[in-house]
Amino acid sequence: AAAAKKGAEAGAGGGEAAAAKPTSKLEAARAAATAQAGSPAAKKEPKGASASAATKPTRPAAKPERPKSAGAGAAGPTRRTFFLLTWFGVAWAAFIAGCSAAVLAGVRFLYPNVLEEPPSVFKVGPPDRFEEGNVYEQWKNEYGVWLVRNNGALYAIRSVCTHLGCTPNWLEAEQKFKCPCHGSGFRKTGVNFEGPAPRPLERYAIAIADDGQVQIDKSKKFQQELGQWTEENGAVIKVG
Ligand code: FES
Repeated sequence: AAAAKKGAEAGAGGGEAAAAKPTSKLEAARAAATAQAGSPAAKKEPKGASASAATKPTRPAAKPERPKSAGAGAAGPTRRTFFLLTWFGVAWAAFIAGCSAAVLAGVRFLYPNVLEEPPSVFKVGPPDRFEEGNVYEQWKNEYGVWLVRNNGALYAIRSVCTHLGCTPNWLEAEQKFKCPCHGSGFRKTGVNFEGPAPRPLERYAIAIADDGQVQIDKSKKFQQELGQWTEENGAVIKVG
């Protein structure tokens, strides 16, 4: 019996020892697990904690960003509205410009075209102002007229070539009018003598006005080939 008791005690002791061994193994395993969890997990946990702690403060920051994104979304319609308004404004501006142009054209149509032309009748001074044998060109550009004193007569020659209408030049050295276009030449009297011009230059009416000045009237023209270069017609005045 004693031996059995010892055996039982020994068995119980062995069981406790066996029970203690597994406990220590579990504890060792837990310790190892906690050690493992302690080192990386402990490091992870702070990271997780810090991450969670970081996300927690950022989430409230992200919340205000949503209105920003909503604001950016609202900027899209704003740009579209801006472009629509711009195109609308451009269209209106073009419409108003077109209407204004039409109105101006209509108003302009109501008024006649006015050409600033010199008067057809003008005075050139007293007859003794002009010397024998001279051709006076100071009225050529404005009035298209040469005034000539030749052989005791004054006459006004129209400065238009009878070929195709160019303006001849007076060549003092050669004592002739010369057309630069096709080479027609006219004597001091206006009679053609070279080139393609078919007839003499024309003359304007000339007279002594009431104030004693020589007056030229461009509304009347005379042609030599028609026998119109007479004093009676007013194509020439005698000045002695
Ligand atoms: Fe004067 Fe032809 S236009 S010669």
